[in-house]
Amino acid sequence: MKKILTKDNSITFFNHEFKENLHPESGAIESVYKRYINHLKLRDNIKVLDIGFGIGYISLIILSKVKANITALEKNKDYIEAMKNLKLPYSLKEAYEKLKNINLITGDATKTIKKLNKKFDLIILDAFSPISNKELYSIDFLKELKNRMNKDSVLITYTSNPIVRFNLIESGFKLQKYRISKYEEGTIASLSKENLTEEDKRLIRAFSLPV
Ligand SMILES: C[S@@+](CC[C@H](N)C(=O)[O-])C[C@H]1O[C@@H](n2cnc3c(N)ncnc32)[C@H](O)[C@@H]1O
Repeated sequence: MKKILTKDNSITFFNHEFKENLHPESGAIESVYKRYINHLKLRDNIKVLDIGFGIGYISLIILSKVKANITALEKNKDYIEAMKNLKLPYSLKEAYEKLKNINLITGDATKTIKKLNKKFDLIILDAFSPISNKELYSIDFLKELKNRMNKDSVLITYTSNPIVRFNLIESGFKLQKYRISKYEEGTIASLSKENLTEEDKRLIRAFSLPV
């Protein structure tokens, strides 16, 4: 695993199987805030499913803010080992101890998801890009996620890829887009809220072939 120091001084890793970094080099921890945390309503006792746990930054930041009940899915055990040697900012050091209490399940999430018999308030889908990590954006998998949500739950993912949005809609979700940066837009999927324009929907239909 190649270790990379990113511009906000936090560490990420290059994944040789997917040929992608776990986080952008512009700032690993900063990207977690921009892509996810800044757009979420977190509260104590929230039930969270963190898919693509990696080196745990998302769960860690959530635990630094609220008392969350977290289940995490990750297939690569090397990252869980690598987490032990991360240099963390002071603000996250206390939360690091709380990571020991989460339910971390290793293995392919498309299989391990089937072992989970509970509903989550928040699902974070932080996979690699939709081109290389297709199984985590497939209709079959997204339907498994939907079955583990209730009417007020949300699923958040950093991508605006039209195929992913198409698959989410096909799986029965309503979608909201949100701005991450000038160049990045994310997607929030739920059973009730929608803010896509007719033009967005037309583009999703035009670009989409199921993955
Ligand atoms: C973009 S990285 C996530 C980074 C992570 N959220 C963090 O903050 O450190 C994507 C992660 O998804 C994991 N992954 C990819 N395919 C998977 C699968 N089928 N099942 C479980 N985990 C998978 C990869 O091993 C990688 O750790």
